[in-house]
Amino acid sequence: MAGKRIFSGVKPTGHLTLGNYLGAMRRWADEDQHRADAVFCVVDLHALTVEHDPARVRRLSRQAATLLLATGLDPQRCTVFVQSHVDEHARLSYLMECTASDGEMRRMIQYKEKAAGAQARGEGVRLSLLTYPALMAADILAYGTDEVPVGEDQAQHLELARDLAVRFNRRYGPTFVVPKAIHPTVAARVMDLQEPVSKMGKSQARTAGIVFLLDEAETVRKKVMRAVTDAHADVVYDRAERPGVANLLDVLAACSGGDPQALAGAYGSYGALKKDTAEAVVELLRPVRERHAELAADPGYVDAVLRAGAARARELARPRVDAAYRAVGLLPAV
Ligand code: TYM
Repeated sequence: MAGKRIFSGVKPTGHLTLGNYLGAMRRWADEDQHRADAVFCVVDLHALTVEHDPARVRRLSRQAATLLLATGLDPQRCTVFVQSHVDEHARLSYLMECTASDGEMRRMIQYKEKAAGAQARGEGVRLSLLTYPALMAADILAYGTDEVPVGEDQAQHLELARDLAVRFNRRYGPTFVVPKAIHPTVAARVMDLQEPVSKMGKSQARTAGIVFLLDEAETVRKKVMRAVTDAHADVVYDRAERPGVANLLDVLAACSGGDPQALAGAYGSYGALKKDTAEAVVELLRPVRERHAELAADPGYVDAVLRAGAARARELARPRVDAAYRAVGLLPAV
């Protein structure tokens, strides 16, 4: 497929959530792979930026790759691979560290939040947590990416990737395409059902407010029915004042293709809204869970997809990363 290049990724730091699906993954399968030369990556190197169990990262990486295929990514149409299988990411990341400044890395919201979390747990803050956005910029820029479909929480990282591309090109000559972030119109930031002022995140310790893609239907229903709302009785869409209800309306709108504001008018009680939202989420995830079970029973197939994906990704990334190495003044190997 000629024309635009799309790149995006998921990090195997936990089980993938409804937030990952509505904010990013669903459109990769439903739209992006059909409209551009799309490349999707399980970004396992990023999972090493926080304390991790090697066996768990391995398991979650395989599960994430299997889930990407289960959502409908078709390896005949797009490229699916694991980041650590393609050396170009780490090679280019170093050049991005040489392009970025210490100050701009320290300004990243996710760094501040995650570093504070690690310190609160008495864990050290890994240097790679600070340099994470340099690797993320490398992921994107290595592929000459035009568009990056992501949830809203990645907007600041994307801005940085753009800045680094522009700066590198200005210093060393035109090398990188300046990428653009694409966010969904609804559910770009799905909130935790128990704590609707925080993002639904896959690595949170408390899971009662997180719908995982592989949760059983009954579990999904329970989590949605117990979602925190507020003391009002009427259903109004107001993200600032009524975050819990607004979140349910966003999720329902994203599942049903409706508009959250308009949906609010259709409900007279929280109970009915929760019930419909629960059923909509169960139906949305059902085919993904079923397909995941089939694919998980055939690890040989998933391996073959990842092997072919990595080979294509290497081919795509190599020439641009080589050009960047030459542009900064590194002596080509002969
Ligand atoms: P990650 O693994 O945290 O999330 C994967 C994708 O899911 C989106 N997302 C959400 N969207 C809406 N509501 C939520 N609650 C929610 N939680 C997650 C994220 O915005 C993301 O699109 N740094 C990235 C991974 C990455 C990457 C890249 C992405 C590394 N290199 C290059 C794009 C391009 C991350 O941690 O995503």
